Amino acid sequence: MKSNNKHNTQSLTLSPDNSSLSSVLSPQHSHKPTCWLVTGGCGFIGTNLIARLLKNDPGTNIRVLDNLSVGTREDLATVCGFTESDISSLSPESSVHSPQSLVLSTSEDASSVQLFVGDIRDKETCLKCCKNTDVVVHLAASTGVPASIENPEYDMTANVIGTFNMLDAARRHRVKRFIFASSGAPIGECDPPIHEEIAPHPVSPYGASKLAGEAYCSAFFLTFGLETIALRFSNVYGPGSGRKNSVVARFIRRAMVSEKLEIYGDGKQTRDFIFIDDLIHAICLAATVGGIGGQIFQIATNTETTVRGLVDKLLPILADSCYEGIEVLHKNPRRGDVFRNFSDISKAREVLGWKPECRLEDGLNSTVRWFITHSKGKSA
Ligand SMILES: NC(=O)c1ccc[n+]([C@@H]2O[C@H](COP(=O)([O-])OP(=O)(O)OC[C@H]3O[C@@H](n4cnc5c(N)ncnc54)[C@H](O)[C@@H]3O)[C@@H](O)[C@H]2O)c1
Repeated sequence: MKSNNKHNTQSLTLSPDNSSLSSVLSPQHSHKPTCWLVTGGCGFIGTNLIARLLKNDPGTNIRVLDNLSVGTREDLATVCGFTESDISSLSPESSVHSPQSLVLSTSEDASSVQLFVGDIRDKETCLKCCKNTDVVVHLAASTGVPASIENPEYDMTANVIGTFNMLDAARRHRVKRFIFASSGAPIGECDPPIHEEIAPHPVSPYGASKLAGEAYCSAFFLTFGLETIALRFSNVYGPGSGRKNSVVARFIRRAMVSEKLEIYGDGKQTRDFIFIDDLIHAICLAATVGGIGGQIFQIATNTETTVRGLVDKLLPILADSCYEGIEVLHKNPRRGDVFRNFSDISKAREVLGWKPECRLEDGLNSTVRWFITHSKGKSA
């Protein structure tokens, strides 16, 4: 059984600015970011985040750093107008923070979103992009377990060196807050629910590289005072996931071209599926709620769904959209996949004041609708 004060981790008492526990845990001291840097902003979560930020405040200044290896300019254009600028246009020399220039553009007709095409593995790129931003949401990564097994070295360079480069650039430019996209993968095989106090034992290279990112986040908070927050996303699904290979997106894509849905193993493995809108809400809170530097949060639904159960919910929704008679095929289990996975989200509820709102059936419905709308004129 977990104790009631499990959220008061030791790291809180070591805060470099001597924050007391009460101030650390009081969400009322929130701040409003003026300029965001979103790495991986052309991807699934990035585009949804940018859409939400602009909906909340149409003039918000947003920089996007993406190497376009997965997301594209067209994907970004589906959620916003943007200008593309060369990274060399950002002054390289200054590592000194200049608060008076935090707002990038005050011109009303200028687009408030700027795309920089570049790679987080290049430290000069990271340094230039962090200048004059006050919140970094670091999403760019080699994503997922299978990719990390196929190419563990690439996974390490993107997720460990890339994350280090971003953290170091953020500290040198005195960025106020750094949100790191982590995952349940650092924990590895354990008796769920996963929570923040479980000792991590990653199974896959992806889990190891995300754990390294979490470790650097902790170190950069405790050593340099950079307010890092690691959010461990569970399985995210929703509109905008057209390029994802995660289970929901893959099943919908296959069903739409009458291919069999492939389940790895017997389908009794479980996952915690979170709808994109709920996840984005958590990111926005993590960027603004005060006194949470150095913390990790599980961002999930606390609901355990078997992959077979997911298929059972998905098939009638697909059938309602005329994708009927879809067959299911069982294949060998995949290396690196954990068997049971769902998360305890009480810390995020208590400290961020966040809770997931979307039922799986509703989220699947809007995801299927999005895929149908966006597949028109495209091959699957
Ligand atoms: N989607 C999920 O279910 C999920 C779950 C847990 C964690 N995460 C994490 O959330 C983050 C975002 O995931 P997503 O689903 O939006 O992925 P995504 O692949 O859709 O987006 C990632 C974006 O990063 C860009 N990118 C990749 N490598 C880069 C590099 N070296 N330099 C610059 N840009 C680079 C890609 O072009 C892409 O646009 C990732 O860090 C991922 O590990 C996602």
